Amino acid sequence: MASLNDIRSTFLNFFAKNDHEIVASSPLVPRNDPTLMFVNSGMVQFKNLFTGVETRDYKRATTAQKCVRAGGKHNDLDNVGYTARHHTFFEMLGNFSFGDYFKDEAIPFAWELITREYGIPKDKLYTTVYHTDDEAFEIWKKVGVPEDRIIRIATSDNFWQMGPTGPCGPCTEIFYDHGDHIWGGPPGSPEEDGDRFIEIWNIVFMQNEQFEDGSMKALDMQSIDTGMGLERIGALLQGSHDNYDTDLFKSLIEASADATGVDPYGDKNVHHRVIADHLRSTSFLIADGVMPSNDGRGYTLRRIMRRAMRHAHLLGAKDPVMHRLVPALVQQMGAAYPELGQAKALIEETLELEETRFRKTLDRGLKLLDDEVSDLGEGTALSGEAAFKLYDTYGFPLDLTQDALREMGREVDVDGFKVAMEEQKQKARAAWSGTGDATESAVWFDVVDAAGATDFLGYDTEKAEGQIVALIVDGTEVEQIAEGQCGWAVVNQTPFYGESGGQVGDTGVIRRLDNRDDCAVVTDTKKFADGRLYAHAVEVKRGTLLKGDPVELEVDHALRSAIRANHSATHLLHEALRVHLGDHVAQRGSLNDAERLRFDFSHAKGLSGDELRAVGEEVNGFIRQNSTVSTRIMTPDDAREIGAQALFGEKYGDEVRVVSMGTAPTGKGSGGETYSIELCGGTHVKQTGDIGLCVILGDSASSAGVRRIEALTGAAAFEYLEQQAALVANLAGAVKAQPGELPERVKALMDERKALQNEVAQLRRELAMAGGAGQGGGAEAEEVNGVKLMAQVLKGVSGKDLPALIDEHKLRIESGAVLLIAEDGGKVAVAAGVTNDLTETLSAVDLVRAAVAELGGKGGGGRPDMARGGGQSADNADAAIKAAKAAMGG
Ligand code: ALA
Repeated sequence: MASLNDIRSTFLNFFAKNDHEIVASSPLVPRNDPTLMFVNSGMVQFKNLFTGVETRDYKRATTAQKCVRAGGKHNDLDNVGYTARHHTFFEMLGNFSFGDYFKDEAIPFAWELITREYGIPKDKLYTTVYHTDDEAFEIWKKVGVPEDRIIRIATSDNFWQMGPTGPCGPCTEIFYDHGDHIWGGPPGSPEEDGDRFIEIWNIVFMQNEQFEDGSMKALDMQSIDTGMGLERIGALLQGSHDNYDTDLFKSLIEASADATGVDPYGDKNVHHRVIADHLRSTSFLIADGVMPSNDGRGYTLRRIMRRAMRHAHLLGAKDPVMHRLVPALVQQMGAAYPELGQAKALIEETLELEETRFRKTLDRGLKLLDDEVSDLGEGTALSGEAAFKLYDTYGFPLDLTQDALREMGREVDVDGFKVAMEEQKQKARAAWSGTGDATESAVWFDVVDAAGATDFLGYDTEKAEGQIVALIVDGTEVEQIAEGQCGWAVVNQTPFYGESGGQVGDTGVIRRLDNRDDCAVVTDTKKFADGRLYAHAVEVKRGTLLKGDPVELEVDHALRSAIRANHSATHLLHEALRVHLGDHVAQRGSLNDAERLRFDFSHAKGLSGDELRAVGEEVNGFIRQNSTVSTRIMTPDDAREIGAQALFGEKYGDEVRVVSMGTAPTGKGSGGETYSIELCGGTHVKQTGDIGLCVILGDSASSAGVRRIEALTGAAAFEYLEQQAALVANLAGAVKAQPGELPERVKALMDERKALQNEVAQLRRELAMAGGAGQGGGAEAEEVNGVKLMAQVLKGVSGKDLPALIDEHKLRIESGAVLLIAEDGGKVAVAAGVTNDLTETLSAVDLVRAAVAELGGKGGGGRPDMARGGGQSADNADAAIKAAKAAMGG
């Protein structure tokens, strides 16, 4: 008997043989649809190929697409477990033509696959066509379907459209007759809702596009989109009409039975079915980056998880169950979907954490539910307040309460629940005491109340579509932002990282989907309303941004890559500092932007050259190790237990994101341990090797007891090193040395310079004594008032050489006075000396003072035999000498 894996392969191979490209399933979180919560059919990833907006290098494709129908428009959650064919997760097999073949090939392909490859007897098959579609009718006749088995359907059942807008068209469906032992009639008959005739394949003739104003236009090209649920065709080929009765589901149900010790096929079968189905949707969602939360997609995931966990509880499980089933799922589906195996640890941990936490309140919540219900009259609905209390205090999603009541034949007063929810929101808002301007923050709370929290997609993608939910200019909500204007744009989901945790906000561009030339530049992204809202600071370059518009958001890839590399390098640097300086090193601040990284940490003194070198070497060693960077979600306590570095004094929620990288070969512990583990919400490289290179620029003091290191990574680090190398080469050329000899050569040159300077000074002094050229006035002494005066103006002689020169002159003249005015590099120094035999009657201080006054200086002083002073300019040197002579009475 063919397994579901075989049936999937047969489908894909059949179309590959017929020139179709086998395209991998897209992730469950749609990148290209602003309104869709999860991918719910095969064509979602090809939407823009049908409308011609996008082209690829193939025109025929085939896929097995992961789909989730558990939120938004398509929601099958409530029925799962109780019916034969409802799932929250399923695989849709499909073949697609983008303007290539149309009806006359699509129908024969389907018929051949179904009847030959899968060998389904023709006499069990019926087909339907849209009532006006004679062409499809004729083709079915031609392939051999009897006319009485081609049923014309006039309703929307045979007109398929993806959503309120987008590509659409009439369709044709293939039905299988499970036999008259099951009640039901063929499509179009009054008994069609029975289980006997089951639709197995839908082939859509994509030929129109539906617009928001209700109009529909013919598309330029005619395309094919088909969808066949693997679980349904699998059940049929395995001789059942119950999807849960297939090899894949049986193995999951048996795993659930093993884990709980409860008979898989007895009266508790429904619980095992719920668990099997929900295990698939939750695991695949986690593998695609969705994490349980209280908003949007994350909340849908949480609802599915908790619903499964209640059913595990109904099976009497005493401990968390779901995570123990993951290996069985990976064994069944890991080959077809490698992402499942890659995320196995993350899936297991996330499920276990959620179940451990939920089990704490589940019992008490169920008891409250029982108490409430026991007071209610027969068939009376549970009050909205009670359902809200279960939600708010015990973490019961509304549909979990509804599911529990279903077993008792009761319902919930949903309107009452909504009223209670609204009241609580108002209270929470009134009590919010965040930072920032109150009126300004009120706008963001209005937006988040009306539109819900922003879904951040940026861990997995840099490009996505979204819908503008609010535009804000100068603190007020507006309907549009026109060309040339600036403001804030809030979109329901975004790949743009909002500034936080030391990582700057992303920049990039927002384009309108209906007119891609209309665009706004995103200059920054910030988080508001307690971090629940991401707002893009925009400047509209062309056209107008309108509230409600679908848009495409694209992060500047080069800048984001650089930011990522810097942020990951910061984590490695942090750990390397702890290893080399000690455990007292704690983060005090950080900045990761596209240019560089800055890390402030507690450490009392500057780092030595050796320490800096060791830290840099270690960081780069881990970069070259190229290990995978892993992200996990856990409770703050668990994170602390595994040694995660957290920011001191920071408030963390119930769950934290833990980023780990590097495997310590030695040194830390016994080796083989994870090197860096930090609580962090930032975006990181996939492998440490993506950082490329890290160059530490230096260490400086940031504040008392806090040091700051700045560093470069990737291309910026490389450029920096290139510049340094060029500089060294230039320098080596200039001093005529090999780069390696530079330090020695420079030292030798410095020594030589010093010696030359000394020599020059000595020569200048000698020249001055000799009254040589340029030393002004000659060295002849003259007689003033009966005393010999030796006065001289010296160029290029430093003031500090004057005392020695004065002494030499005094020796030469034997008895008399000396006055020297020296000018060197704009500085003017004056010194005077009087031989000891004359100091009773003549003071050097008087001579200096008289001279200095003429030179624009002030004061001057010393002893009668030697005094010094300074001036502004030597221009009046003659007048200064004259003044000194006057002071001698001359
Ligand atoms: N897109 C079509 C469907 O989901 C094939 O049924």
